[in-house]
Amino acid sequence: MQNLEREKIDIDTNRRLLNRYRFVAHEAMHLFAGWMPKAALFELKCEMGRTVWENSLHVNSLYLRLREIQSPAFQKPADAAMVRLMEELIHAPDEGGIALAYFRVVVPSLVEALETHETATFPNSDLPSVHAISHMLLDLRAQLVRVAPILEQADKSGLVTAASRAWELYARELLGAAGGVSGLKARGPVPRSAPSCRIEFEAPREACRDPRFTNPGADMVAMPAENDYEKHTLEEFERYSTEVLAAETVAYVLYSVEGMPWEFEFDSARHLYDEVRHALMGYEWMRVHGLNPFESPQYLQVYKWRTQYPPIMQYCMLTMGNEVHAFPYRHRRVEAHQQSGDRLSEQFVRYDIADETQHVRFGKRWLPELLKHAGDPRSFEQYTEDCLKVWESQYRTGKLTINVE
Ligand SMILES: [Fe+2]
Ligand SMILES: [Fe+2]
Repeated sequence: MQNLEREKIDIDTNRRLLNRYRFVAHEAMHLFAGWMPKAALFELKCEMGRTVWENSLHVNSLYLRLREIQSPAFQKPADAAMVRLMEELIHAPDEGGIALAYFRVVVPSLVEALETHETATFPNSDLPSVHAISHMLLDLRAQLVRVAPILEQADKSGLVTAASRAWELYARELLGAAGGVSGLKARGPVPRSAPSCRIEFEAPREACRDPRFTNPGADMVAMPAENDYEKHTLEEFERYSTEVLAAETVAYVLYSVEGMPWEFEFDSARHLYDEVRHALMGYEWMRVHGLNPFESPQYLQVYKWRTQYPPIMQYCMLTMGNEVHAFPYRHRRVEAHQQSGDRLSEQFVRYDIADETQHVRFGKRWLPELLKHAGDPRSFEQYTEDCLKVWESQYRTGKLTINVE
């Protein structure tokens, strides 16, 4: 009689593999939180944001499983080659390099490992893992389909350079040395050194936009009066289209703050991608109304202004300044759209309110933890008051003081 059990991977192998997938997805969250503000190509920037969020869901489902079979749940893999691969990727020479290395090298290998694992483990005894794996596969296969035309677009726009290709090759060698994402493939030689195009990564102090954006640094001017419904609504959704700036700030915070509980990263990943979605909502609205969102002012000075402050202060000004204070206005807009019978605008703003309510909740939940983590003796209330003085005097007045180094 055939012994089916013998053909299935054992629980120790299972745990080691799940831990590798978790590590890859988790490191990629940091990698793309770091890179997202720096990426110029708009579609790639949005996809990086989506990757941060979707990976956070994958990490979370693996974490929920791993904590049942290993303690602590989060462990760095013992395989130095795998660790090196994921630590090296971020030092890509350009956005083409990081995109090719992750989406063309790492993700296909992760998909292959998951596909094998899905049927190699005990289908009933290990069902919780199979469930997590099959849902990850659904996302990752869809991601590869979405990313293919973006990589083509990057290539046509000249963003895939000789250095990008050298980086892709290097990533392939590093992955080969690790035996693929699973570590179960025959291992290739360990690359002796990185290619000369490697650039030591630093969190970006300025946000990038591609050349389609014609108005990167306009001053923030007063909006048309709310009672001028048509004009005001147009400006309202143009402002939504620029919310990628908020996503970039959350990305900076997520990348810069280390050692916080997993739930902080999980909430921040969602916060980050919500802001991308708010920007895309603005794009959708503008296109429906025959407008070109790439002509919207980008206010890139706001990102530059925020990044001169510590990450906690940026997070506090965003959640307790911008986000807390937007509610009375947003509720007035819902009413105005209802009165005008403008269903699309009304629905968009109501979804935005739902997301923003969560963002304020995230701020209130995590700011006290962040202060403790940074060893700041101030209370949440005192710290918020101090931050809002800067926010009121500079952001609200539009007088952004940027200390040029
Ligand atoms: Fe938003
Ligand atoms: Fe928000």
